[in-house]
Amino acid sequence: MTEPIYSLDGRYYTDPNIFAIEKQHLLASTWQFAGHASQLANPGDYFTFSVAGENLFCIRDKGGELRAFYNVCQHRAHELVQDSGNARLLVCPYHAWTYELSGQLRMGPNVQSTPGFDREKICLTGVRLENLHGFLFVNLDDAAQPMDQWFPGVREQLLNYVPHIDALVPTEFVEIKEQTNWKISVENYSECYHCARNHPTFATGVIKPETYDIQPQGYCLRHTTECQDDLSDMTYPIDLSANDTAGKYSSWFLWPMFSFQVYPGNVLNTYHWRVGRAVDQVVLYRGWYAFDETSEAIARQLARQDRDTTVAEDIRLVESMQRGMYSRGYKPGPLVLDPNGGVNSEHSIRALHQWTREAVDGYL
Ligand code: FES
Ligand SMILES: [Fe+2]
Repeated sequence: MTEPIYSLDGRYYTDPNIFAIEKQHLLASTWQFAGHASQLANPGDYFTFSVAGENLFCIRDKGGELRAFYNVCQHRAHELVQDSGNARLLVCPYHAWTYELSGQLRMGPNVQSTPGFDREKICLTGVRLENLHGFLFVNLDDAAQPMDQWFPGVREQLLNYVPHIDALVPTEFVEIKEQTNWKISVENYSECYHCARNHPTFATGVIKPETYDIQPQGYCLRHTTECQDDLSDMTYPIDLSANDTAGKYSSWFLWPMFSFQVYPGNVLNTYHWRVGRAVDQVVLYRGWYAFDETSEAIARQLARQDRDTTVAEDIRLVESMQRGMYSRGYKPGPLVLDPNGGVNSEHSIRALHQWTREAVDGYL
């Protein structure tokens, strides 16, 4: 008899050692969202952010190229920049060493008096950066495969579902703090076995739940569904004749902590998870994007509606599940794996558990 496949042990969600392994080995070797290219419209524009406990910044250099660096001076390690802004040169606040926007050291007080000092050899430490239709991702692993190999087809599919994607700018951000391990929040996003019972608006308003499916596409989990034939109940106007994806919904979760989601009307929104300080803390940022006044109004309205329905409904679920993971009474249960896939199957969870094990088990 075939044995079912069991869910991960509770310790994957509660053990601070496993959390440390994930930060050091998973977050530091996968593609992590940094920010949006529209934040760097002009040469010298920069913003800071952090990945896997590292302070980083993105900047547009004089030639217009986007770059990412560790936020650390190559003299005696002071941080170079704070928050966001525009700089003609990068001047370290400690001893005023000055760098070009390309990262190259330009000068420092009295450095030329030092025998053997070679200015040419000193450059900020760069980080791999990719631009996916204006969405900037970094990878701390210099040997990492490019995003198109991790997530095959996603670049083309996004352009197809959001024809104006390169003109988008961030409109609305909703920050949601959850008292749960990041993987629980990601798993909750990645299955719709819980949707009928927990998301009445989503399951009756937009999509046809019986057609919902989630399948791996490389290290992407692709959600597809048919939408209700009559979208006139939607709370915003949709011009179905605008293009042939205008009536569609889809989503692309990019392992481990980011997702693009497209609502009918080619409305793009994102999920971006950031681990908290402790193993059972995560922050989820919902991003909403628009390209003109009308789409901005729609994005704002949807952001509010989403926060009051799906988001609020999911917080209760993921926080309860975290409490359960600490329970001595929890023995991991079998995943529901329908060979035909579909909305009531957890094959996407199987993929997430497998990717988690790949990242963690070798270091246990
Ligand atoms: S640490 Fe930056 S100039 Fe000394
Ligand atoms: Fe949910």
